[in-house]
Amino acid sequence: MKQVLYSNYGDSSVLKVDEVDKPRIGKKNSLLVKIYYSSLNAIDWKNRKGDFRLVSGLIKPRTKQGFDVVGEVIEKSYDLQEFDLGDKIAGLLGNFEGGSFSEYIVVKADSVVKIPDNIPINQVAGIPMAGTTAWLALLKLGGLKKGDKVLINGGSSGVGHLAIQIAKAYGAEVTSISSTKNLDFCKQLGADVTISYQDEDFLESTSTFDIIFDVVFNASYKKTKHLLKAKGVYIGTTPTGTMIKEMLRYKQAKFVSVHPNQVALKDLLKLMKEDKLQVKIDKEFLLNDIIKAHDYIEKSRTVGKLIIKIG
Ligand SMILES: NC(=O)c1ccc[n+]([C@@H]2O[C@H](COP(=O)([O-])OP(=O)(O)OC[C@H]3O[C@@H](n4cnc5c(N)ncnc54)[C@H](OP(=O)(O)O)[C@@H]3O)[C@@H](O)[C@H]2O)c1
Repeated sequence: MKQVLYSNYGDSSVLKVDEVDKPRIGKKNSLLVKIYYSSLNAIDWKNRKGDFRLVSGLIKPRTKQGFDVVGEVIEKSYDLQEFDLGDKIAGLLGNFEGGSFSEYIVVKADSVVKIPDNIPINQVAGIPMAGTTAWLALLKLGGLKKGDKVLINGGSSGVGHLAIQIAKAYGAEVTSISSTKNLDFCKQLGADVTISYQDEDFLESTSTFDIIFDVVFNASYKKTKHLLKAKGVYIGTTPTGTMIKEMLRYKQAKFVSVHPNQVALKDLLKLMKEDKLQVKIDKEFLLNDIIKAHDYIEKSRTVGKLIIKIG
């Protein structure tokens, strides 16, 4: 089967679509999935460049890529009653390197969810990592309630465009920050107030917020605390030294760390089924074009999500 692998940190040319053996199913809690779609996340190009090498260490030969899984169950371990062959499932891989840019994968059954009928599965592929990040940030860390005022810095990004819709679905009033060309995009997603970072510095806003979700992470708790209500929270996406110091010092400064969460994924798919959440697909690439997809996402101009078509 085909799988994306790399053995050195570097630019996109280190990536290879290689032939490897199909994985074998485990004895318990195990599903063999034929992958139809995945999506590219910022972590994929950052991993490939070695941005997290202080944590991940020296690169292993034949390191895998890709975290989002959308596919069909083609084999299951005998202990599983709740899945049938042919079920369409979605999941987020919880290991450090991923492995979903691959034609088949073995996943733990208790880490994936069935995809409800009649939602486009290429869109679902944009949900596991980006959607779970937005869901955990807003609902778990931010404790979002109906009527809350939420600021999303980076409303047109993969995570941000889902965050706008999730916040609206839960009854928030949303202010989105994007470039001028993406103001309409954010408005169409439901943002009540749209601000272009090219025209205005949101740090000079006179409004206050219950949640500031700094998706593109170019502010900090200290820079935004004058915009927070008394119990408001600032949520960052990158574990920099400043972020860690602020988290340790101020309980209103929080860092979202995405991890597989079935409750989140089920809720996100329910929102899709109810037409409250859509993944806006900027471009769809074939697995063989993974280098082009990396070059595209690394420019950080993607509007919505990049989908990788595999099956
Ligand atoms: N901690 C975690 O668990 C976790 C999980 C997922 C993602 N992340 C991180 O979250 C960040 C966002 O990820 P993503 O996948 O959403 O990224 P992405 O889709 O690649 O972000 C690209 C988008 O960001 C917008 N953007 C760039 N500069 C901006 C600025 N100064 N202000 C507002 N918008 C700006 C771009 O729009 P314009 O062209 O209009 O500027 C573009 O739409 C990344 O750093 C990623 O590593 C962290």
